[in-house]
Amino acid sequence: MLSVQDLAVNYGRVHAVRGVNLEVAENEITFIVGPNGAGKSTILRTLAGLIKPVAGTVRFCDKDTTNELPEDLCRQGLVLVPEGRHIFGSLTVGDNLFLGATGRKDKARIRADLAEVLDLFPVLAERFDGNAGKLSGGEQQQLAIARAILQRPRLLMIDEPSLGLAPLVIDQVYECLRKLNANGLTLLIVEQQTNRIFSIADRVNILRNGQIVYSELTSDISSINVLDDAYFGYDEKTAP
Ligand SMILES: Nc1ncnc2c1ncn2[C@@H]1O[C@H](COP(=O)(O)OP(=O)(O)O)[C@@H](O)[C@H]1O
Ligand SMILES: [Mg+2]
Repeated sequence: MLSVQDLAVNYGRVHAVRGVNLEVAENEITFIVGPNGAGKSTILRTLAGLIKPVAGTVRFCDKDTTNELPEDLCRQGLVLVPEGRHIFGSLTVGDNLFLGATGRKDKARIRADLAEVLDLFPVLAERFDGNAGKLSGGEQQQLAIARAILQRPRLLMIDEPSLGLAPLVIDQVYECLRKLNANGLTLLIVEQQTNRIFSIADRVNILRNGQIVYSELTSDISSINVLDDAYFGYDEKTAP
């Protein structure tokens, strides 16, 4: 569904991302995992059209989308939930959700999509008329994802959904992501740590210093230890 070839992104003289190849298959959950500063957000922001790459191509649904505008990409179903969620705290939960449907004219479909996300995220139905700023971190993450669903994504990209959340809350958020995927949504998720992702990932890519150093189907990874060794750069050929 998404195919990235030889992507490079600079910030002035900083080479943030280099030579990145990435495949996201339809209906799968693909992860990019890497430490702080590895270039994860840069990749997602570039795929969403917010940053222009200095090299490389992006194909989405069999079309070259490398230099398309963010709003055009969004209309085609390439939707980003940014790092930090970007909830409007002084607006109600409902109004935050309706912002996701900005620009859509299919009113009946919007109502149906709204019913679907409120069903999936019951806490948002309970708090619908309350201030979004009063939600907990986990609830705000659910709101950010629900708002993105109202943009009708074909591929939903999420930047660090577990950031700042307690382990139990992460489980809840991940359970929602698993359900969305079971309903047919393709996901590209970025995280800093490997420990939570193993149970829901179809493919894991490890990013270090702007480069993908490892890419495997989860079904081909024998254990989380193998993944952690790849993450921390342990190589048994050169290890003492
Ligand atoms: N706006 C920016 N200007 C200059 N350098 C940046 C900017 N944003 C990110 N960087 C640098 O690019 C690299 C990758 O950053 P980022 O994509 O945010 O990493 P991650 O999301 O994996 O933590 C880091 O070295 C970071 O300092
Ligand atoms: Mg980041």
